[in-house]
Amino acid sequence: MPNRRLVSRRRALWLGLASLTSIGAIATARAGYQSYYQSLDNPKRDFKVTGYAPLKKRAEAKGIIFGSAIRQDLLVSDSRLATSFAQQCGILVPEWELKWNILRPAPDKFDFSKADWLAQFARTHGMLFRGHTLVWYQVLPKWFNEIVNRQNAEKFLVEHIATVTKHYAGQMHSWDVVNEAIEPEQRRSDGLRNSPWLEFLGPDYIELAFRVAAQADPKALLVYNDYGLEYDTPTDEARRTAVLKLLERLKSRGTPLHALGIQSHLTGHETRFNPKKLQNFLADVASLGLKILITELDVVDQKLPVDAAVRDRIVARVYEDFLSVVLDEPAVIAVLTWGLSDRHTWLSNHAPRSDSASVRPLPFDSNLKSKLAWNAMARAFDNARKR
Ligand code: XIL
Repeated sequence: MPNRRLVSRRRALWLGLASLTSIGAIATARAGYQSYYQSLDNPKRDFKVTGYAPLKKRAEAKGIIFGSAIRQDLLVSDSRLATSFAQQCGILVPEWELKWNILRPAPDKFDFSKADWLAQFARTHGMLFRGHTLVWYQVLPKWFNEIVNRQNAEKFLVEHIATVTKHYAGQMHSWDVVNEAIEPEQRRSDGLRNSPWLEFLGPDYIELAFRVAAQADPKALLVYNDYGLEYDTPTDEARRTAVLKLLERLKSRGTPLHALGIQSHLTGHETRFNPKKLQNFLADVASLGLKILITELDVVDQKLPVDAAVRDRIVARVYEDFLSVVLDEPAVIAVLTWGLSDRHTWLSNHAPRSDSASVRPLPFDSNLKSKLAWNAMARAFDNARKR
């Protein structure tokens, strides 16, 4: 029988060694974490801005349109938000109200009441109005799956686009005609995403959608809108290639397509940002004779340090670095954020923080006080070349 004392002494030694190693591992991990975040954050970078002019004025001075997405219920219930929105924004896009699930309560019924309210708000405050979105695989109404099939899909698509675009004909700055039709990960050779539209109508549903929209509203700028195009990652690279291929194909067939919308839901902790690659992509798009809109800009702060000052600095840096690159391309004519204030952002649900601190992805905080992200945008517009 081994000496008990000896065994327990040995065990203590092992435990001690083991915990030393794990403390070491934690320390190394922590150091790695710190140096990683230090590389994202530069406390010395100041985001000084001259004057107090709102973003829409600064953008306008360069021939750029600035605005944001907003929900009708928020403008109705929050007059301070409505005031800031009207001050800052030169263009308004409904975040919900022009999507199928809101517009189409039943197969034979259109409800324009909320979107009309927003169109009126935009008009009253001298803002442009923008439509999002006519064809998307998401937020389809409940009845859609039961009723729409291969036989009637074309009728539903054409009727929907014609009715909605006619309703706002002459009033829309631009329409996101088709949203998020690309998904290279699904491995089709054309890079198209599986969706009810693709399943029922084949790849030509995209061209059809643009033709119907152009016929009903010849004045609106017709946009193809997508995400995941911004970073130097294999996924984004594949998406850029597939989107370019789609745009080229549409243009070569004479489709009435006028612009690419780059959603630009950026990632605060992503370091793989390559200005040259992004600029080349923008130039390729522009060379097809297309304009470019930044349509849904925000910065995910899910994995950034909880300290709000550090987080705001990193988020602001991402805004300024991104915008200074994209605004260098003269084909970029508009920048819209996906919401104005951190109080109401889809990222609270879509990309919440694990420490449950509230997210801070937008130019105004939840009390409508402007943040460094606002300064970053103001600077990017001030430094942009004139269109
Ligand atoms: C989001 C809205 O912000 C959410 O409130 C809604 O529940 C789902 O849609 N890309 C788009 C937008 O094109 O329509 C999405 O908006 C965000 C991602």
